[in-house]
Amino acid sequence: MVYPIYLIGYMGAGKTTVGRILADRLGWHFVDLDEAFHEIHGLSPADYIRTYGVEAFRRKEKYVLEDLAELPIEKVVYATGGGYPCWEDNMECLKELGTSFYLRWQPHHLAQRLALTDLSERPLLHGKNAEEILDVIMPQLEARAPFYEQADYILDAPISNDTLDGSEDELLAEMLYDCIINS
Ligand code: S3P
Repeated sequence: MVYPIYLIGYMGAGKTTVGRILADRLGWHFVDLDEAFHEIHGLSPADYIRTYGVEAFRRKEKYVLEDLAELPIEKVVYATGGGYPCWEDNMECLKELGTSFYLRWQPHHLAQRLALTDLSERPLLHGKNAEEILDVIMPQLEARAPFYEQADYILDAPISNDTLDGSEDELLAEMLYDCIINS
C-alpha cells in the first residue's frame, strides 16, 4: 500500500473521527485537512466560503493538500474535506499521492448523523431536521458519487437492521486498520 492514507467521503461520513481512531491505532500522524486549512488561511472552510466563495476555497484547498503531501512524512492519515475529491483533477492527485478510502454511507444514514451534529458550520444544513437534510444532500451525493467511487478502496459503513447504534465509526476504523495491515 502506498502511504499516506486519504479518507474521503461526504460530510458526516466520519472522516475525522475514524481517521483519528485509525491513526492512533497505527501509531501514525493524523491531519484533518479542514483544520489545516483553518490554520494556514486563518478562516475555517465554512467562513472562507462565506467570505470568498466556493471557487476560491477549492483553489486554496487543493494547494493545502498538495503542499502537505510534500512533507517528508509518510505515515499519515489525512481526513479530506467532503468536496475535495470532486474538484478538477483532485481525485487523480489523491491517487498519485497515496491510497484513498471512500467511507460510503446510505444518504439517509448520513442525514441522521448530520442532524445530530452542530450544524452552525454548515450553512446549507443549519436548522434542518434529518428529513430536510436528506433533501439537500441527495442531489449533491449523487453528483459526487462518481468521484468518490474512484477511490482505491470503498468501505461501506457497517449498519445492522438499518439502525445506527453509535458503534459505526469504531467499526469503520477497525475495517480500515485490517485492510491496511493486511495489504
Ligand atoms: C465541504 C465539506 C467540509 C469543508 C467545506 C466544504 C463540502 O468538510 O471542507 O465546508 O463541500 O462537502 P467535511 O466533509 O470535513 O465536513
